[in-house]
Amino acid sequence: MRFLLVLSLALSFQISFQNMITIPLAKQEANNESVKQNRSFLQSYSVDSLVNNQQMSYYGTIQVGSQNQTFKVIFDTGSYQLWLPSKNCIQSDYNCKGLNGYYDCSASNGCSLSATQKTLSYGKGQVSGYIATTTVGVCGLQQVKQSFLLVQLAQDFSNIQADGLLGLGLYDSYNDNGNSFVTNMKNSGIIQEEMFSFYLGFGKSDSQLIFGGFDPKKVADSSQIYFHPVILYGQQGYQRWSIRVQVVNFKTFSYTLNAVNNFAIVDSGTSLILLNSDMYKQFVTYLIQNYKVYQTQDGYYYTSCSTSLPNINFILNDKDGIQRQYSIPSSFYYIKTQGQCIIGISSLPPSVGISDVQIILGDIFMRRYVSLFSYKNQTVGLTLSVADPDDDYTNSPLEGWQIALIVIGGLLIIGVVSFCLYRKAKERRERNRNYLNQQLLSNQNQQQNYFQGQGVAIGGNYQNQNNYQQQQNYFQGQGVLIGGGINNNQNIVYGQPVQG
Ligand SMILES: *[C@@H]1O[C@H](CO)[C@@H](O)[C@H](O)[C@H]1NC(C)=O
Ligand SMILES: *[C@@H]1O[C@H](CO)[C@@H](O)[C@H](O)[C@H]1NC(C)=O
Ligand SMILES: *[C@@H]1O[C@H](CO)[C@@H](O)[C@H](O)[C@H]1NC(C)=O
Ligand SMILES: *[C@@H]1O[C@H](CO)[C@@H](O)[C@H](O)[C@H]1NC(C)=O
Repeated sequence: MRFLLVLSLALSFQISFQNMITIPLAKQEANNESVKQNRSFLQSYSVDSLVNNQQMSYYGTIQVGSQNQTFKVIFDTGSYQLWLPSKNCIQSDYNCKGLNGYYDCSASNGCSLSATQKTLSYGKGQVSGYIATTTVGVCGLQQVKQSFLLVQLAQDFSNIQADGLLGLGLYDSYNDNGNSFVTNMKNSGIIQEEMFSFYLGFGKSDSQLIFGGFDPKKVADSSQIYFHPVILYGQQGYQRWSIRVQVVNFKTFSYTLNAVNNFAIVDSGTSLILLNSDMYKQFVTYLIQNYKVYQTQDGYYYTSCSTSLPNINFILNDKDGIQRQYSIPSSFYYIKTQGQCIIGISSLPPSVGISDVQIILGDIFMRRYVSLFSYKNQTVGLTLSVADPDDDYTNSPLEGWQIALIVIGGLLIIGVVSFCLYRKAKERRERNRNYLNQQLLSNQNQQQNYFQGQGVAIGGNYQNQNNYQQQQNYFQGQGVLIGGGINNNQNIVYGQPVQG
């Protein structure tokens, strides 16, 4: 994929430009006087253009190591770490299928390999390999030090049309300092504002991921951005871009979420909108009773594209406690395939839905609303996008659309399960503090068994007293929690690392 550098204006933020590292301007723009005059504004952003894979996922490029090797990655707001294939990621029907290229982790390439093996489980798919450290950059800019998983085993990623995945979570447990990739970019002065934004379009290559800002031209009205506080809890490694959702409406159907665990995550790594299974069941019942919809073999619902169904509305409190309604018209939630329109609203697996995350606002939602992810403010800003379903570049049958390509925010399931186990452990702790560590140890073992039957390393110690207190406050409904300390990852090491 050709790598593009586009720069846009930072008029919405009052920021200082001292000590800025200049982002190279694209050549034709550099000669443009009016753009040149705005150079100081232009310096604060870098835009990675994304390729739309059949409305199912978006990928862009990163440069890795001292050779600036380019990789196509999914930028996933639902996970935290980077993974790339190694040369030991041998392709077969069951392994590393569809991943192209590999990263040669050698000293000459600025890479060092550790003996620490890890596995990452996603909503769909799983990878494992060894942790390595190199440098990574976007847009051909200065690179930052970045630890990542050099993958030998990769299952269920054959349709991502990318070679790896870069998690854009709030924290990255693989990095020494725990900082996310974006935080490290900000600390290196590559971007001014510790944030990124997504504009997801319907065209093949009109989508953008902007580090350090957003593009006002992609927004219907930049005076109408509403900011939603991120709900943080537990270990930093499990914090997600989750925001509170109160109610979901669809014509006269209305579902009010339980006020304790009414979290929605804004997840670029999930294709569809996913509702908790209880809500989804009720929604489908309503849909069948009132509209001409039919079920696919895979359990999705579809209708004729000439029918327009009502908007699905999500009511979220903003940071000032004001309710904001986000409406997704059917033209946005339809996925066109062979003359029929599949309704891009589905169910979370029941095991996920019973816990804190009730809704995943995936790409369908993010095409309707430009999303701003701010580390500093700890908010997700949402604002109506200019994306237009008429720009849909594909009307061809979706190749294997049944795969649904739902890379549910990485570690989602791990996070939820460990969170549940944490809560269990907490109850025990209340009974007998002294036994805590032992219980947690056994929880860790349970987690491992649950996912792999072998060693998945889940950093599992809830031993930070402050975190614990804050979590308790959170569950009593006393506001937003900002988790403290970094957890100790429980590293599971198998034999010798394999070079490459
Ligand atoms: C310079 O850039 C501005 C803004 O993008 C554009 O309107 C203008 O036409 C450009 N001028 C030239 C000479 O390319
Ligand atoms: C330059 O910045 C000013 C605001 O400072 C803005 O009004 C103008 O449109 C910008 N020009 C270009 C070519 O982007
Ligand atoms: C890699 O990219 C950086 C930043 O653009 C540049 O300074 C460096 O010369 C490049 N290295 C190679 C080997 O191309
Ligand atoms: C952060 O908060 C400030 C103050 O409310 C606001 O002006 C700014 O737009 C926010 N930035 C982001 C990226 O959300």
